[in-house]
Amino acid sequence: MPDPTDFLPLNGTDYVEFYVGNAKQAAHFYRSAFGMEMLAYRGPETGTRDRSSYLLGQNKIRFVLTTPMQPDGPIAEHVRKHGDGVRDIALWVDDAEAAYRETTKRGAKGVRVPEVLQDEGGQIKISAIAAYGDTIHSFVERRNYTGLFLPGFVKLDQPDRVSRPVGLKYIDHMVSNVGWGQMDTWVAFYRDVMGFRLYQHFDDKDISTEYSALMSKVMANGNDRVKFPINEPAEGRRKSQIEEYLDFYKGPGVQHIAMATDNIVETVSKLRNQGIEFLRVPHTYYQDLIKRTGKIDEPIEALEELGILVDRDEEGYMLQIFTKPVEDRPTLFFEIIQRKGSRSFGKGNFKALFESIEREQALRGNL
Ligand code: FE2
Repeated sequence: MPDPTDFLPLNGTDYVEFYVGNAKQAAHFYRSAFGMEMLAYRGPETGTRDRSSYLLGQNKIRFVLTTPMQPDGPIAEHVRKHGDGVRDIALWVDDAEAAYRETTKRGAKGVRVPEVLQDEGGQIKISAIAAYGDTIHSFVERRNYTGLFLPGFVKLDQPDRVSRPVGLKYIDHMVSNVGWGQMDTWVAFYRDVMGFRLYQHFDDKDISTEYSALMSKVMANGNDRVKFPINEPAEGRRKSQIEEYLDFYKGPGVQHIAMATDNIVETVSKLRNQGIEFLRVPHTYYQDLIKRTGKIDEPIEALEELGILVDRDEEGYMLQIFTKPVEDRPTLFFEIIQRKGSRSFGKGNFKALFESIEREQALRGNL
């Protein structure tokens, strides 16, 4: 039942749009390595002059990779400043006009007034508001549309011979890094402007190593389908991974996207064979794993071999692993997650994980 007090009802994440320097090649990477399938295209050949966009999908996950055709304009500017990164976390709504009205009334900055896009599949209504940094949230209304994705996108008639699916199902959460002292500003934005609530939080006692610390609050929408953890750096002896991100992304932005699977051992084995690089934790992590987590279904040897982490709470357990950044700049990376009852974000793994990230940071000369 929809909650009548929820002024921004969301059906879930609609798509994530990345602005990249070369969408054709990026699409090849997401297909061959992450197993996304090329579903549709829009560009000069289909009547869009200023950009090319590739729609990739795997189960419920949809990524759009967009590249500018010319050196000026907002897409080129985004790529110049940030490198490849997430521009738009688009949310699926039943009423894009109401979503725009309710959020801008509460202080959101509008970046796209409600607009109707049309083709033979019907009508899409779309609007957008600004979020942290140069990131935006589009609101996509699909109830009068039966087409493939969005007007302008053309289905590819060739089967995708490059895609090697790995069993990724849906986006579990998407994490932002914001600047010093900005976490509560953005917590307030998601609470007051978008009607989210605080779902979990971690402070620098939960998330600190010998060198650095961070603080994190997880915001969730009314039906829990959309979860946005927000990180900010905390004072430590050396530069935190959040500061490194902010230095290279040139401001706040999406730090990682967590994608869920029903079989993490199989998914991560395939991803590794397809060239995805993961963070590693030391052998000692696995020595006392069972003591911390109790009995689990997966063989510990397989988890250690792949570097998969486990955490347990009152409700169950969860398995997770993080990729290295997927661009040359140490910015966006991905998490693969499998939940077995637990709704946590892997608090018990933070220390081992951040020490692993710091080893990588030191190699880059940024610790
Ligand atoms: Fe995460």
